[in-house]
Amino acid sequence: MCGIVGYLGNSVAQDALIDGLRRLEYRGYDSAGAAFHDGNAFSLARETGRVENLASTLRESNPTSTLGIAHTRWATHGAVTVSNTHPHLSHDGKIALVHNGVIENYGPLKRILEGKGIEFSSETDSEVLSNLIAYHYARLEGEEEQFAQALREALSQCRGAYGIAVLCVDEPGFLLGARRGSPLVVGLGDGETFLASDASAFVGRVRDAVYLKDGEIALLREDGFRIITMQGEDAQAVSQPIDQTVEDVEMGDFDSFMEKEIFEQPVALENTLRGRFGDDGTTAKLGGLEGHEDELRRLNRIVFVACGTARHSCMVGEYLIERLARVPVEVEHASEFRYRNSPKAGHTLVIAVSQSGETLDTLEAVREARTKGLLTIGITNGVGSSLARETDGGVYQRVGAEIGVASTKAFTSQVALCAMLGLALGRMRELSPIQGREIAEALQNLPENVASILQRGETLRELAHKYSEAEHLLFLGRQDLYPVALEGALKLKEISYAHAEGYPAAELKHGPIALINPECPSIFLVEEGELGAKTIANMQEVKARSGPVLAIVPEGVEVPDGAADDVFRVPAVHEVVRPIVATIPLQLFAYHFARIRSLDVDKPRNLAKSVTVE
Ligand code: F6R
Repeated sequence: MCGIVGYLGNSVAQDALIDGLRRLEYRGYDSAGAAFHDGNAFSLARETGRVENLASTLRESNPTSTLGIAHTRWATHGAVTVSNTHPHLSHDGKIALVHNGVIENYGPLKRILEGKGIEFSSETDSEVLSNLIAYHYARLEGEEEQFAQALREALSQCRGAYGIAVLCVDEPGFLLGARRGSPLVVGLGDGETFLASDASAFVGRVRDAVYLKDGEIALLREDGFRIITMQGEDAQAVSQPIDQTVEDVEMGDFDSFMEKEIFEQPVALENTLRGRFGDDGTTAKLGGLEGHEDELRRLNRIVFVACGTARHSCMVGEYLIERLARVPVEVEHASEFRYRNSPKAGHTLVIAVSQSGETLDTLEAVREARTKGLLTIGITNGVGSSLARETDGGVYQRVGAEIGVASTKAFTSQVALCAMLGLALGRMRELSPIQGREIAEALQNLPENVASILQRGETLRELAHKYSEAEHLLFLGRQDLYPVALEGALKLKEISYAHAEGYPAAELKHGPIALINPECPSIFLVEEGELGAKTIANMQEVKARSGPVLAIVPEGVEVPDGAADDVFRVPAVHEVVRPIVATIPLQLFAYHFARIRSLDVDKPRNLAKSVTVE
């Protein structure tokens, strides 16, 4: 949700800023801009559309300044226009600011500033903040640390979320940043310092980073940096090595990040699972839960909170954990949970799942749970993220940066971790060592099973081609394959803009069957055994109404003649890993379906990767 980069160093800022924005483009791609400190004024370049548009403008103007800030926007307040594009300068030209987040009380603040004769040139909440800082800067003339003080005063008047980078014309050696609710990280290089929404912006140029905590301000100077609190006191700056590599954040030989990330899944799953099985091979050992064993033994209810794809992984987790550990599980939309007065029943564990660890609704749900005194655990890929910091314990996904807006490798890793959690909780309860070992082995074999499906990607491309004219598709599955059907439908609709819906297969007859016609394909996920036979009967109901059927079916399950137009086989695996195996063909199907329509799968319309606004 908007990406910001700031650069202060001994090289030309524009290269670092454009490289950084390219890496952050997954956060928003409505418009992009940069401001450079030019000695006694700012030079500004702003373009609607992709970062590439800004890059070509800068190639012409070629600014040589070594101090600048830049932004790639996902519009919240104000349309996608040049005047709404960041950076925003204050009315007097003294302050330049880039902002990720939402200033909730910008209306009243704007009225106060307008009352003082200040004119605005955009519809954004962010311009209010640059003017407010400029107002305090002028008021504090002659005071010590005038710029930092003005920033603190301005922020103390703001409600909402922000990650910002700020420059002042009169302070050529300074780059300031602050965060509340939106991520901000300082990159410490050799003779150069960065500020960015995400460390991927400076991977390859910088080895160490300091992740700012909420309520902290970073004061970067040419000769060093300080982190202070909103009260102006020094805060501890803990620097840590960046855990990403250039290969992680670049596309390599793939056509898109989404394709790269789909194909990374065997390795990603191996990394998620590595070293996380007990020594006797019958249970899971999740380091982040250590110290909470008594609570985990005692708990009698789990509430998952998450959004989007991450929530679908929790829905799979509900089936897996209830089956393995016999603990009742509920799955809530984080955005609903945070405003609900849900009863605090028994020993409840709240598990928040978020790839980025920065999704605002998920974080607020965690905060609400903690206010109620509930134990909270985070499952996240975001090392050092807000979720990692704000939960009582947690488990990292370890799948490397996920840059494609449509989540793929993060989803399968989240499901694998839910299975691991089910295994660990199950072994603390009634699950036998033999059952535990079978599950552990099934999980360890998973990367190989996933790889075997990826090798048949070409078949899925052909299938996607066959169905690519459809504008309405249904995805159907039972039990743990029902959330997989939801995920398949979400993947398809978000990157191809075709309308797709997921349903429990048996629910078809209660309404959706009315949609069936020769133009509306149904994609069925079939399991083994008795329930699989029932799903195949549902397929036949669709065929009887001339609906095209593509079935994803485990090896060995017989599909009667005429029950499906196309059958894609997946390995027959233990039921605990079945949802992951069934997901892979749906990801590739969606990917090819969208590519055949010549769409940019990494930057789907209206979306952004990390949703840090409500
Ligand atoms: C869909 C997708 C989104 C995210 C959701 C939560 O492909 O990626 O639905 O799953 O925005 O994001 P995180 O997991 O970062 O909290």
